[in-house]
Formats: sequence, C-alpha cells, structure tokens
Amino acid sequence: MKEVYLYTRFERFWHWMQAVLVILLIASGFEIHGTWRIWGFQAAHNIHYWSAWGLVVLFVFAAFWHFTTGEWRQYVPTTTLLKEVFSYYTSGIFRGLPHPFKKERDRKLNPLQRLAYFILKLVLFPLQFITGFLYMYYNEWPRLNIHWTLKPVALLHTLGGFAFLAFLILHVYLTTTGPTVFSHLKAMITGWEKIE
Ligand code: HEM
Repeated sequence: MKEVYLYTRFERFWHWMQAVLVILLIASGFEIHGTWRIWGFQAAHNIHYWSAWGLVVLFVFAAFWHFTTGEWRQYVPTTTLLKEVFSYYTSGIFRGLPHPFKKERDRKLNPLQRLAYFILKLVLFPLQFITGFLYMYYNEWPRLNIHWTLKPVALLHTLGGFAFLAFLILHVYLTTTGPTVFSHLKAMITGWEKIE
C-alpha cells in the first residue's frame, strides 16, 4: 500500500460544497413538495432558491476547473472491468473478494463511478437546472412566449429530486466500502488515500 495524493484542495472544496447544496436542495425541495416539514414553506422556498443559484455557480466553476486541468478525462465512461466491478458490488463484496479495480492518481474512478458521475453531470444536473429555471421564472412564461402548463415541468423536477435522493443514499453507502469504513471519507477530507 502507498499513500497517494488523489484529491486537490479545489476538488475537495467542490465535493463538500456540492454535498451541502444538494442536501439543502433535497430537504427544501421535498418540503415544498409537502413530503415533510422542517423550516416552513416560505423559508424552504428561500433556501431552495439560494441553494439552487449556489449550485449553478459551483457547477460552472467546476466545469471550468475540470476542462482546464484535463481532469474531465477521469469521467469518460468505459466498459473495461464494468461487469467485474458491478458483480463485485452486488455479490463479491459480501464474499470478501478483492476489489477488481486498482485506483491510481490518473485513474481514480472505477468504471461504475465513471458511468454514475457521467450521468449525474450530463443528465441529472442539466435536468434540475432546466426544469428549475423554468419553474423559477414561471411568471415570465407569457413574456417568453412559453405556452406550456407547469405540471410536466414540476413532475420532471420532482422525479429529478427523487433521483438525487437515490444517488445520495447509494453514494453514502458506497463511501463505506473501502479498506476501512472511513478510508474513502478520510481521503475526501485530507486528499490522501492509501492505495495498492
Ligand atoms: C439537487 C438538486 C435539486 C433537487 C433535489 C430539487 C428538488 C425539488 C423538489 C422536490 C421541488 C418540489 C416540486 C413540486 O412539488 O412541485 C422543487 C421545487 C422547485 N425547485 Fe428544485 N430541486 C433541485 C435543484 C433546483 C435548481 C438547480 C433550481 C433552479 C435553477 C430549482 C428550482 C426550483 C423551483 C423554482 C421550485 C418551486 C419552488 C416553489 O414552488 O416555491 N431546483 N425542487
């Protein structure tokens, strides 16, 4: 095993800022939806509004960082080892088998992570941004010559909300599947991870 510096300071800032904003958006969004009560509708609406803008700004900065550093290449989906990694998480891990993917500085995401983050970045985030802005500027639709009803937009945005919630639960569970329960979490705090 050797200690490798995997996550830069910006990457860790981006990860934890995004985590806070997405959790705030899920909590406030489902309060708006009527699922639970935490802050009251008006406060939930305001939290959702400012967290949404925060997420949009962070997304732009992160996209700029990934393209200028070339780190976007780490997210390009691949089928190499995809089946092996999938069967590891669905059965191998429960039989104590070794992880089929070996992390390296320039290849730190396994094929299942690449696929999940690629869909998150290029499908789920744009879905929430587009339906969210349409929702946010609903009163401007006549002036913008948009003649739809709000229902399909609200429905798509809520479905996106459920997808983010499912992602969050699975993501937190998978962070505990490293050599120790907290080794992946520790790496995303310090930047350093012990790898084979
Ligand atoms: C992780 C990201 C997000 C999640 C999980 C999320 C979730 C939700 C949910 C569940 C609702 C309630 C929908 C309903 O019952 O009709 C909602 C409402 C809303 N969302 Fe989001 N959302 C997210 C991101 C965004 C973004 C990025 C924007 C804007 C760009 C946005 C703007 C809105 C607006 C304007 C409403 C209606 C608010 C109101 O009626 O007071 N959301 N969101």
